[in-house]
Amino acid sequence: MADPFYITTAIAYPNGKPHIGHAYEAIAADVIARHQRSEGKAVRFQTGTDEHGLKMAQKARDLGVTPRALSDEMSSYFRAMCDTLNVSYDVFQRTTDESHYKASQAIWQAMEANGDLYLDRYEGWYSVRDEAFYDESELVAGEGEEKLSPQGTPVEWTVEESWFFRLSAYQEPLLAHYAANPAFISPESRRNEVVKFVEGGLRDLSVSRTSFDWGVPVPGSPGHVMYVWVDALTNYLTGLGYPEKTPEMERWWPADIHLIGKDIVRFHTVYWPAFLMSAKLPLPRQVFGHGFLLHRGEKMSKSLGNVVDPLELAETFGVDSLRYFLMREVSFGQDGSYSAEAIVTRCNAELANSFGNLAQRSLSMIFKNMGGSLKVDLAIAPADAGLLHTVAESIACMREAFTALDFSGGLDAWMRGVFACNAYVDEQAPWTLRKTDPARMEAVLMTLLKVVRDLALAVRPVVPSAIDRLLDQMGVAADARDYAALDDKSWLSDLAASGFSLSQPSGVFPRLEVPVGEEA
Ligand code: MSP
Repeated sequence: MADPFYITTAIAYPNGKPHIGHAYEAIAADVIARHQRSEGKAVRFQTGTDEHGLKMAQKARDLGVTPRALSDEMSSYFRAMCDTLNVSYDVFQRTTDESHYKASQAIWQAMEANGDLYLDRYEGWYSVRDEAFYDESELVAGEGEEKLSPQGTPVEWTVEESWFFRLSAYQEPLLAHYAANPAFISPESRRNEVVKFVEGGLRDLSVSRTSFDWGVPVPGSPGHVMYVWVDALTNYLTGLGYPEKTPEMERWWPADIHLIGKDIVRFHTVYWPAFLMSAKLPLPRQVFGHGFLLHRGEKMSKSLGNVVDPLELAETFGVDSLRYFLMREVSFGQDGSYSAEAIVTRCNAELANSFGNLAQRSLSMIFKNMGGSLKVDLAIAPADAGLLHTVAESIACMREAFTALDFSGGLDAWMRGVFACNAYVDEQAPWTLRKTDPARMEAVLMTLLKVVRDLALAVRPVVPSAIDRLLDQMGVAADARDYAALDDKSWLSDLAASGFSLSQPSGVFPRLEVPVGEEA
């Protein structure tokens, strides 16, 4: 049986429509999922929406609708975003599902049984926007000297009866876990921040609220709903059928990776592992905190009017171009910037002009000069063998980088393979060979067919639909598109033997233009 690989994204607050930051995370997780499937793993990929808490309740009140109606409507936009962007999730988990109440209450009871929950009074600062409690010492002064959270969001003084989780008891176990599992928190810069925070001492965490009721009821404690992060984090288990001992729990837990943004690393690397230790469940193998996506280097905000709808971008530039740009342009883990010109420049240079042109030229020459038929057993010249070797090396390098979540580095390696092919076409000049040495021309064109197919298989996790259209034209079987197909030396002879011949090819990577009015 294939090795399991369970990946999750953060579940977004559906208090508005999804923005490009949400799309970025979903696309990155999808590229990881598709890459691991191509590597032969059995992948489970979960995403969803985080529908409880004061932020949702307040937004619904402002709009004059119930929180449930707000969640139902907005959650559907998040799901639609994933579908449009070709995000191949297996489970879309909503936290208002019945099964999620059951899972959240079960983990609560497990923590209670472990002696980690007690009732007390909470007095302190709360940020609704971050749904987070802050210590006085963490606050910063705003422009009008008002107190703000470290993320710059407003905080309010809160006094209520509350259940507390004995987080302080987990300081040493957490530090021991970080030390024994260096990859648990990635990238390394985030790990250092968390270790410093935990070394500074942990206070018990307020984990229930009484001032509103939009949440999962605390079992056996009328008037209390769980702090939204307790239920939100539990979604990673709900989708597997927890608390039942399901085959899914058995097969997929612990998760291989929780992919999240840098702003919520503390929740996933301090609170979540402490809850899991308390409930006696294994910890996820890795939490990766990606960077933020900025618009022309600026934070996106409604007041700046630069919040971009990812579906509009996909409509303008195409889903595959958007996916390629985001994975190629941003060094994964760091913040990155996007703009219409940057998308156009990157995609035209690499997808349209380099790879797209290589594929189109190669297929078209086979169609025109060989009637579309495939030839095998041709004499291989050193230049052909050299190119096959270079391309294989670039793909191996790309796969390794993708496994390590270095997407821009991986695509850089892939481009080295593409450049080598274009240099080979120029050197071999098959259009001249046509008259001088037709047999040699055929050898060159068949070499090109091989490398185009290999480079297409390699980049397929990033730009799946364009690559599938290309591979369809090339007669590559739908079930022979993972990386294992790279090692199949007989695919070309099998294809030729099946009588396949190429039709007039059509390009799959169009040249993009910056829409009028969006120039810098
Ligand atoms: N609901 C919580 C997560 C709970 S996970 C158990 C939340 N929701 S969110 O809607 O605010 O953010 C969802 C994800 O999008 C987070 O991982 C967050 O870091 C990410 N991003 C939000 N804005 C972003 C950018 N501008 N750029 C990249 N990612 C961003 O936090």
